[in-house]
Parts: sequence; C-alpha cells; structure tokens
Amino acid sequence: MGSKGGCGCCSCLCGCLFSCLLSLIFQILFTLLVIVALVGFVFWLLFRPNEVKFRVTDASLTQFNFSTADNTLHYNLALNISVRNPNKRIGIYYDSIEANAYYQGQRFDTETPAPFYQGHKNTSVLSPVFKGQQLVTLGATEVSNFDSDKSAGIFGITLKLKLRIRFKVGWFKVGHFKPKIKCGLNVPLKSNATSSPATFESTKCSFAF
Ligand SMILES: *[C@@H]1O[C@H](CO)[C@@H](O)[C@H](O)[C@H]1NC(C)=O
Ligand SMILES: *[C@@H]1O[C@H](CO)[C@@H](O)[C@H](O)[C@H]1NC(C)=O
Ligand SMILES: *[C@@H]1O[C@H](CO)[C@@H](O)[C@H](O)[C@H]1NC(C)=O
Ligand SMILES: *[C@@H]1O[C@H](CO)[C@@H](O)[C@H](O)[C@H]1NC(C)=O
Repeated sequence: MGSKGGCGCCSCLCGCLFSCLLSLIFQILFTLLVIVALVGFVFWLLFRPNEVKFRVTDASLTQFNFSTADNTLHYNLALNISVRNPNKRIGIYYDSIEANAYYQGQRFDTETPAPFYQGHKNTSVLSPVFKGQQLVTLGATEVSNFDSDKSAGIFGITLKLKLRIRFKVGWFKVGHFKPKIKCGLNVPLKSNATSSPATFESTKCSFAF
C-alpha cells in the first residue's frame, strides 16, 4: 500500500517537474526572442541605412564624332558625379569604382577613379574624363540615330558605375557589396564648330541590378 502511494506521488512530482521545465524553457526562449527583436530594432533605429545618392551634376562634351569610314568614335567627355552618403552612423569604403560610358548600347570607354573612404553625412565628387577614340560598330539604325543626335547637338550617353563597397559601422566593417549604378544623360556638344544652345541638366542616377 505504502509503496503504491509513493509511486503515485513520484509520478505526480515527475509530471509537474516536466511541465514546469517545459514552461521554463518556453519562457526563456520567448524572452530571448524578444531581446533579439528589441536589439535589432534599436540597432536599426540607430544605424538606419539610407540609400546612397548618385547624381551627375556637370557634363562637358567637347568632341563626339563618329566616322563611318573607319567606324571610329572620337570623344571627349568630362563628368562631375556627386556621391552623397546620407547616413549618420555609416561610413563607406569605395574599394573599387569602374565607370563605363556607353553610346547606343556600345561601351566606348572605361575609367577607374581612385578608391576612397567616405565618412557619414558626406558628399564626394568623382570627376572622370573620357577622352580618346574607340572602334565601335554601329548598325544602320544607330548611324541614323547618331546623325539626328548630331543635328540636334545633344547626345544620349549612358554612364554605368560598377562599385565594390564596404560599410563601416562603429568598429565593424561589413562587405563586400557590389551595387551597379546607371545614369541616362543627355549631353549637349560644346565644340568650336558646333555649339548646342542647350545646357546640361543635373541628372539623378538609379540603382541597376
Ligand atoms: C567639376 O567641378 C569642378 C569644381 O566645381 C569644376 O571646376 C569643373 O569644371 C567641373 N567639371 C565639369 C565637367 O563641369
Ligand atoms: C573627328 O575627330 C577627328 C580627330 O579629332 C578629326 O580628325 C576629324 O576631322 C573629326 N571629324 C569630324 C567630322 O569632325
Ligand atoms: C567629408 O570628408 C572630407 C574628407 O574626409 C572631409 O575633409 C570633410 O570635412 C568631410 N565633410 C563633412 C561635411 O563631414
Ligand atoms: C577650340 O578653339 C581653341 C582656340 O580657338 C583651341 O585652343 C581648341 O583646341 C579648340 N578645341 C577643339 C575641340 O577643337
């Protein structure tokens, strides 16, 4: 009789212990989850990443001629690109920058501005100069587009930036990220022979994936 009662008491105790342990584990897990969510939220509030803004502020095109005789494009294009880091607590390492210039889908030049570090709430200016000559193969449609651009005195040039960046948050450095930036520019030609009365309008760039 005594042993039977003892056993019943033991199993009751064990059952209670088990359920107590289970609810304790759940409580700990839940508390951990809440803490992680809170820390994440505070971190986000503090370091809220804002998009870096790219803008071509100035463009000067002094030569842009294409001859069908040798399929060669002669060009001289200088740009000012402003890069704004609006973040309060995030610095950015631009480890590599590749600036490609395209005309009607054809890349005619690549420049690689020097790597740099950009502090928070800072604006940097890149000033690549695309100058030289390049063999490009334009079809009949592209050549007639070139002729109409030429008579308008304004050329549609696309700038694409390929970046390799790292973020600096306090002591931490996170990376690499490889964003691509695209800017569709309408650049008036200002040469001695033909000068378009149009002026270049500052152009916002967008992220391309
Ligand atoms: C870029 O900015 C600099 C400094 O403001 C200026 O001297 C230069 O003419 C600009 N370049 C172009 C292509 O407008
Ligand atoms: C194009 O540029 C080249 C090099 O400056 C020059 O020799 C040629 O005459 C130019 N062609 C035209 C049509 O302006
Ligand atoms: C931006 O960075 C440059 C170079 O590090 C520095 O000289 C300049 O003071 C900074 N500007 C601002 C507004 O922090
Ligand atoms: C424009 O003319 C100036 C002087 O008249 C000359 O120095 C310059 O090289 C010319 N530019 C071009 C693109 O022909």
